[in-house]
Amino acid sequence: MHRDKNRNDFVATLAERQAEMIALPNSDGAAIITMHNKLYQFIDTADGSPSVRMASIEQRPEAMHHSGGALTESLYIYGEALKSALEENFTPSVLSVGLGCAYNEWIALAYFLNRGTPTHEIYLESFENDELIRSEFLRFLDSKLKAPNNFETSAHFQQIFENVMTVVANSLQVEPTHLLGLGRKLFADKRWLIRETLDLKTDFTHPFSVVFFDAFSSKATPGLWNEEFLNQFLLRAPGKPCVFATYASTATLKKALKTAGFELKDQLGFGGKRESTRAYRYGTVVTI
Ligand SMILES: C[S@@+](CC[C@H](N)C(=O)[O-])C[C@H]1O[C@@H](n2cnc3c(N)ncnc32)[C@H](O)[C@@H]1O
Repeated sequence: MHRDKNRNDFVATLAERQAEMIALPNSDGAAIITMHNKLYQFIDTADGSPSVRMASIEQRPEAMHHSGGALTESLYIYGEALKSALEENFTPSVLSVGLGCAYNEWIALAYFLNRGTPTHEIYLESFENDELIRSEFLRFLDSKLKAPNNFETSAHFQQIFENVMTVVANSLQVEPTHLLGLGRKLFADKRWLIRETLDLKTDFTHPFSVVFFDAFSSKATPGLWNEEFLNQFLLRAPGKPCVFATYASTATLKKALKTAGFELKDQLGFGGKRESTRAYRYGTVVTI
């Protein structure tokens, strides 16, 4: 293991990363797979819902969700933001940064189902830069689309995607088959796009009313949390009105949101964290 001067982290071998993973809480019996020099560990969180921990040579293990409950956290941070947007009649267009296990997408779709939102009004874009997660999720939405990765890898991902969709459906009292059916229809109709890496060059053609910003921490993905990126992103992706939600709270993010015309709402973080971020921007987009 050695320190890499360009990172605030240690560079380790994959075997050392695996040992770090195994030493973390929730690791008992959790399967780990290795693909393209990355490690994926399938863990359970305290409310019984699943999550994934990832690591690579450059990156220490980081779980996608709080150990206190992946489902509970996602409902609190992202579900509540979406609910408030629906109560204020924002359009059902959602941008999700960090598909991961897709909790936030299924939560949004379950809320739309419960509200009877017409399918043709719903629009969703999800960003995921991890090739394996993306390709497995595309298979989950359309099994004819892509050849499976190796059998064991695919089985783990297909299982977790199924479990996440089901726990969301059960907790929001929709039929899992209806929820999955809606997701597959939106995908087939190109009203749910699964996009790749979000960065400074990303184009947006849709003004989003709901932005879920859930792409790991500023340590793991510094390029998504700096001032330049946030200012550019907030200028281009959100429409008006819009709600922005993320589990984190940083001074840079708050400043960028205010610069982009958002009003911040005081909100506790999940699982004992001091703060999370929810912000609203009102008004209407002027089209000429
Ligand atoms: C915290 S997890 C997301 C959890 C997810 N929202 C859910 O509901 O399960 C973060 C995800 O963001 C992805 N990610 C990180 N940087 C990204 C980027 N620049 N563009 C797109 N996705 C990114 C990671 O691969 C990871 O799957």
